[in-house]
Amino acid sequence: MPVRSLDQLDLKGQRVFVRVDFNVPMAGGEITDDTRIRAALPTLRKILSEGGSPVVASHLGRPAGKPDPQFSLAPVARQLEKLLGAPAKVRLAPQVAGPIAAELAAALAPGEVLMLENVRFDPGETRNDPELARELAGLAELYVNDAFGTCHRAHASTVGAAGLFAPNKRAAGYLLQKEIESFAQVLGDPPRPLVAILGGAKVSDKIGVIENLLGKIDRLLIGGAMAYTFLAAKGLEVGDSLVEADKIELAAKLIAKASGCGVELMLPVDNLAAAEIDEDAAVTVTRSAAVPQGLKGLDIGPETIKLYCAAIGDAAALVWNGPMGVFECAPFAVGTFAVAKAVAECEGFTLVGGGDSVAALNRSGMAERIDHVSTGGGAGLELLEGKTLPGIAALDG
Ligand code: 3PG
Repeated sequence: MPVRSLDQLDLKGQRVFVRVDFNVPMAGGEITDDTRIRAALPTLRKILSEGGSPVVASHLGRPAGKPDPQFSLAPVARQLEKLLGAPAKVRLAPQVAGPIAAELAAALAPGEVLMLENVRFDPGETRNDPELARELAGLAELYVNDAFGTCHRAHASTVGAAGLFAPNKRAAGYLLQKEIESFAQVLGDPPRPLVAILGGAKVSDKIGVIENLLGKIDRLLIGGAMAYTFLAAKGLEVGDSLVEADKIELAAKLIAKASGCGVELMLPVDNLAAAEIDEDAAVTVTRSAAVPQGLKGLDIGPETIKLYCAAIGDAAALVWNGPMGVFECAPFAVGTFAVAKAVAECEGFTLVGGGDSVAALNRSGMAERIDHVSTGGGAGLELLEGKTLPGIAALDG
């Protein structure tokens, strides 16, 4: 879907409302991963270098529609100022909207950044309240959405406010533009073969993705605990592995659908299994796809790794979402890290999304070698499901 780019806006002397996704992981009041803040820097730097003033809005966590200090954006504002570097100054408005925010926005000088407090402190944000949207839109002359990770939410700051700007006054930021273009590379008219790797715990999280991708891909590699629901659907013994019993029938239908679409659906042919998830667990390599009673399948096995790496190697385009095993526990990280390496070495276009696979990629040290590491979790999944994201649609026109 073509959307106006930041480069098409005349930014000089303008206040620009920038919706970012600074929903970063925090522990004890500290940011534990600032990737999402770094990812928005090119857009903010562009606005500043053109003589504009960003009014930055984000949510953090899921506060209950009222101020809650543990979800304050204060640490994020400090980190943004540090990352932007002098002479940029980031001021945090104590409220989301209202007279103080309006006053601070009106007083913004070129080169200054105003960050609004967590937009979800206002109950109007998540219900896309028109009054809040109006107040937010009133803070700036231009609207930029760079919050890919939140584009699946039809909220006041992502949809309502955007709709109040004329089409030539709103645009996608550089991050959102790169996300849209990268997903289009695999979902549009990709080079062949197009390979999808799906993992994670639950089939139920990926049903929409599998159904949509089966009409588009050439090969589907399945790993993670969701593989055991598929193996159970094939009538195999899965021991104590995590299985969604109510999804076995659906998994059987998806296997049949894949075959009908001519998609090569690959499932583990062996596994790493143990009685419990434990760093010191006695690990069994199963000699077939079946997992014996008393054991849980916790990672793909060495033969599967060989087959999956070969299937990744010749991909002309590839999308990966979800780890191959319990990679947080060292003995069961082997499969996910092997896949990460194979994806990094793949010469085709590679797109990796989803919090867990991106975390695994970062831990494997392979992230630099991926064409696009998505900053979206749910938003990326919805694109892979073939849905239109309301935050992107709101930029249309
Ligand atoms: C995310 O982290 O996926 C986005 O920031 C959206 O957050 P939400 O699921 O709380 O809307």
